[in-house]
Amino acid sequence: MPCDFFRLINSRRSIREFTDENVDGESLRTILQAANTAPSAGDLQAFEVVVVRDIVRRRQLAYAAFGQLFLERAPLILVFFADHQRSLARYGDRGVQLYCVQDATIAACYAQLAAHALGLGSVWVGAFDDEAVAACVGATHNLVPAVILAIGHPAESPEGTPRRSLSDVARVEEINKKIEDLIEEAIVFATQSPEPSVEEFLREIRDN
Ligand SMILES: Cc1cc2nc3c(=O)[nH]c(=O)nc-3n(C[C@H](O)[C@H](O)[C@H](O)COP(=O)(O)O)c2cc1C
Repeated sequence: MPCDFFRLINSRRSIREFTDENVDGESLRTILQAANTAPSAGDLQAFEVVVVRDIVRRRQLAYAAFGQLFLERAPLILVFFADHQRSLARYGDRGVQLYCVQDATIAACYAQLAAHALGLGSVWVGAFDDEAVAACVGATHNLVPAVILAIGHPAESPEGTPRRSLSDVARVEEINKKIEDLIEEAIVFATQSPEPSVEEFLREIRDN
């Protein structure tokens, strides 16, 4: 139901305070299954996710994240790794630089929304020392941490933060053309443009 989906994304907030209640196994499974439905480059799913519940390891992760101590207080942490090796084989540098990181972050995004759909709170943590995080969970060299997702039962309900306006983030056709209030008009106009062939298009880009 589309309406439920939009209500879900609009009501999600980063949660950094958690109750003592654990996240049960069924919820964990649902979250991991949601992550596992994410799209990925070439369907390779070039990511790994490590489930951390152990208090000592959570504390280590908090320090690896430069002292973000709420990580220690979250009963469940998921560490998403980009799997360089898996992407490299098929996609070379682009796989290593981009695709495996996107695979890992899209999966983490699905997990975060799944957690919210289950009534759990979460926060996405990106500020950490890569090597320290990898060492915390014994990850090998080809696995580079992309996201630490802390999950638990929320003990706070923060207000939403303001977002940039659509006219600021979205552009029409070219990066310097703001969308303003002309969304519909712009889309109709775009669909009426004649279609160049791919070869013509690439030649034009190369020549400019
Ligand atoms: C790539 C990325 C990195 C982030 N890193 C951190 C972090 O290290 N620590 C933290 O407390 N929040 C972190 N956040 C959460 C953001 O602060 C939060 O999403 C943002 O302030 C918007 O608030 P909201 O999630 O409640 O909408 C990160 C979010 C993203 C997407």
